[in-house]
Amino acid sequence: MESLLIKGGVPLRGEVTISGAKNAALPIMAATLLTREPCVIRHVPALSDVKFMGEILTRLGAQVRFKGDTVQVQARHIKGTGDYDLVRRMRGSICIMGPLLGRLKKATVSLPGGCVIGARPINLHLKGFCALGAKVVIENGYVHASAKRLAGTAMFLGGRAGSTVLGTANVMMAAVLAEGVTVIESAACEPEIVDLADFLKAMGAKIAGAGSPTITINGVRELHGAEHEVIPDRIEAATFAIATAATNGEVTLHGVRTDHLGAVLDKLKDAGVRIDHNGASLAIRRSGKLRPVDITTLPYSGFPTDAQAQMMALMAITPGVSIITERIFESRFMHVSELMRLGAQIEIEGPSAIVKGGKPLSGAPVMASDLRASAALVIAGLAARGTTQINRVYHLDRGYETIDSKLRALGARIERIGRE
Ligand code: EPU
Repeated sequence: MESLLIKGGVPLRGEVTISGAKNAALPIMAATLLTREPCVIRHVPALSDVKFMGEILTRLGAQVRFKGDTVQVQARHIKGTGDYDLVRRMRGSICIMGPLLGRLKKATVSLPGGCVIGARPINLHLKGFCALGAKVVIENGYVHASAKRLAGTAMFLGGRAGSTVLGTANVMMAAVLAEGVTVIESAACEPEIVDLADFLKAMGAKIAGAGSPTITINGVRELHGAEHEVIPDRIEAATFAIATAATNGEVTLHGVRTDHLGAVLDKLKDAGVRIDHNGASLAIRRSGKLRPVDITTLPYSGFPTDAQAQMMALMAITPGVSIITERIFESRFMHVSELMRLGAQIEIEGPSAIVKGGKPLSGAPVMASDLRASAALVIAGLAARGTTQINRVYHLDRGYETIDSKLRALGARIERIGRE
């Protein structure tokens, strides 16, 4: 199993280009199932999750070709049943269900389980499918949805923690081929939903309001092939910006959508980080001493849960007390005990972590538990004295394109060991 070895204490300096967004690319790839015609998707990040989605589409019968950062998919003939084990292994693959139901009027996928960050139910996805007229049955670990016809309707998709990103994506993808008008209230407003809607519109779908809590979809009879370029990954950008601040470096991020980063940049500024915008580039460096900030994760445009762990790593080296509250996932604090191995002082009280920062961190062997927890450990390792060994690097490869080479190019002393 591979590990990353980081010798910390080197300020990151230079320029880095941000890759396409994983969480936009995955549902957009799934959306290609909605048409028999070829689709071309550009600016797709080279990640294990993306390859995995390619494999799922292939097993459904689609032709999938990766070339550089482009993927071509043609789903001329497909079946409605996702491979049980493949779908179960990646939670994001639940978003094949909406397009299968939309096109074939039937979809069968393995019911995704929880994961380390929380229970991760799909009740809201299923509520949306039922509202469109589908019958949903859970049996032998599978969820089956089927309908004679799908009919547009008004529905409310808000849940315990607010809107659902993949639930909104799934229902939107089923509704584009439903008869009549669907209105999704309490829809997720994330940029990844807008990107998916843009791709669906390029395929001939009629969608208004994506990016707002009310999305209106006028069903059409069929969709055609389309080309699309995936938006930049706002979480990768946030991760590099936070790593720059944590190492007291000076890095320019290229290919960024600044308008997708409002909450993160605002908190970084409050924490004493200077951010200079120039079109699609952002220059990051500290403006003075770091200051503690309190953070609460929220659906977009609030502070993203996917950048919570990374921000906690920064707060761990910032003198003072900060309170970080996780409102989206119930157990997304797996990084806390590992950050504490590096010397961070953190106490968990319910949904909040109280970070008493400022004590220098020192390298140690740590274990990555999920994608963003791993990113937090990389940041902490870069800022720590001595050597940090991060085990289970495959979590990072799910969501960060060549993170070790990108960091090395910025001067980090990071190497991958134990390649199989
Ligand atoms: N929820 C329900 N019922 C549902 C669906 C969700 O109660 O049917 C709850 C969840 O348990 C959670 C909240 O709603 O408390 C929000 O979950 P959401 O459905 O929005 O999460 P997701 O769509 O499954 C996507 C990203 C996650 C990201 C979340 C929140 C992808 C592939 N995944 O998950 O990304 O954290 O939105 O922004 O798009 C990551 O990239 O590291 C990652 C975990």
